[in-house]
Amino acid sequence: MKLGFTTASRAVLLTMAGWALSVSAASAAADPGLRGGAPGAGDPVPGLTADQSTLFFDGQATFAEKEALEDGLGPRFNLDSCLGCHSFPVHGGSSPPVNPQATVATDLGAKNVLPPFITANGPIREARFQFLPNGQRDGGVHSLFVISGRVDATGTAAKCTAVQEDFAGQFRRGNVSLRIPTPTYGLGLVENIPDTTLTANLAANAQQKAQLGISGHLNTNGNDGRVARFGWKAQNVSLLLFSGEAYNVEMGITNELFQTERDLNPACQTDATPNDISGKEGLADAAMTLSDVEKFALYMRYLGAPMPSTTAPGGAASITRGQQAFNSVGCALCHTPSMTTATTKVGALSNKTATLYSDLAVHHMGPTLADNVIQGAAGPDEFRTAPLWGLGQRVFFLHDGRTSDLVQAIQLHASGSGGRGGRSDAAGAATDADAIANWRGSGGTQPSEANRVIANFNNLNSASQQDLLNFLRSL
Ligand code: HEC
Ligand code: HEC
Repeated sequence: MKLGFTTASRAVLLTMAGWALSVSAASAAADPGLRGGAPGAGDPVPGLTADQSTLFFDGQATFAEKEALEDGLGPRFNLDSCLGCHSFPVHGGSSPPVNPQATVATDLGAKNVLPPFITANGPIREARFQFLPNGQRDGGVHSLFVISGRVDATGTAAKCTAVQEDFAGQFRRGNVSLRIPTPTYGLGLVENIPDTTLTANLAANAQQKAQLGISGHLNTNGNDGRVARFGWKAQNVSLLLFSGEAYNVEMGITNELFQTERDLNPACQTDATPNDISGKEGLADAAMTLSDVEKFALYMRYLGAPMPSTTAPGGAASITRGQQAFNSVGCALCHTPSMTTATTKVGALSNKTATLYSDLAVHHMGPTLADNVIQGAAGPDEFRTAPLWGLGQRVFFLHDGRTSDLVQAIQLHASGSGGRGGRSDAAGAATDADAIANWRGSGGTQPSEANRVIANFNNLNSASQQDLLNFLRSL
């Protein structure tokens, strides 16, 4: 008898295979997508005094202001308001689905061309260059747009001829690293988590972490040693400092903390420097005395944490099971569910639980996510565990916004199996040249500390994976 399948039985087998495939595709866990309903974010933290509320709303208005050239915008900038980049799902958040950078490029007669990584329906991005032309490390933000040609330019600024840098060429050569805006909800709570709590949290569950290959370390401020915690690499120590830096780097508005213009050509200056100072209104009234930078910091400090949903998506039981799965596979070993704030003078922020889902530490994430930028003690492939509160209403994920799919965001945590093993970041290299040599010679990375946790996730059955995704979108 001839071995093998008859045409008929082969057809049945193929049908069964097709059926099995479609069943597994239909039952594979999928990102439920943006959670509908109220944003659950944007309100002030509960319990502010009347004066603090006034400062919150005053700060919110300043955060929303669109700046023009007469306010000092530029000469180089990424967008013209804080709110423009921090707007979704409501003021204070992250990148909206439609990118305002695509239109600001040619606003008011400007002739900026869009770099290839800025698209109408992609995330808002800022660009850092990894290296200077001489091969030394750069790592700084290069603002995308120039004010040249804008009709609101007056005086000498009308003659500004600053040109955009060659972003397309730098991008082609692989020298550009991108970052999307992080949401600013609940940051007063984050600012008030004591350093000792962060250190103790990092040391907790040591055995479990060691088994899974998770270590991580805190990034610190060079001058006073305080634990830095803001930004994708936990590179900044306070909301005031971040506000000063963002005002300058994103909008080109110099201030008392960051006084150097983004382009020093005198023909391109639109306002006396620093553009924004305290007491500029010349009034003794306290609210009028504050600089914009102080107002931004107060607004974000008093901005409440995002409120999770207990039922959407997938129902309460699925969300509860999902949270258990999140803990049991090991996500919570980096994404610490909550920490308590210190006793502070602001009652609304004092001894409160911050459900941030982060340890605020930086971890090696392997070559897939590495951006080859060193900031303080955070190396080329190290990132701060991204806080997950508010995830239910986030459009873009990961530091460069490379995906809008939660499943992808999880899978991209896994990368690198070998590597040279030696530290290749600033802490392990004596000089910049060493760091660069290490990076270029080894890929510059270690395997991701999340590899085993992601393997655990992949070993869950698809129903549990779906619960976990529903839990994430409930946040
Ligand atoms: C062009 C878009 C853009 C504008 C305009 C902008 N930001 Fe941001 N913001 C970002 C990006 C990108 C990051 C992440 C930066 C990083 O980590 O390197 C960020 C991060 C932050 C963070 C850190 C939050 C955290 O979770 O650690 C704060 C605070 C912040 N911005 C405040 C401001 C303030 C205040 C303004 C206005 C002065 C502002 N931003 C304007 C893009 C923008
Ligand atoms: C070793 C520590 C670590 C572990 C374990 C870990 N994460 Fe993360 N997670 C990070 C870091 C660091 C980032 C930021 C990476 C980046 O942006 O490049 C991140 C980012 C994310 C993001 C994107 C958030 C955003 O703001 O864009 C999601 C979603 C996420 N993690 C979910 C999970 C889930 C679910 C698990 C468990 C299956 C998990 N993570 C395990 C460290 C970890």
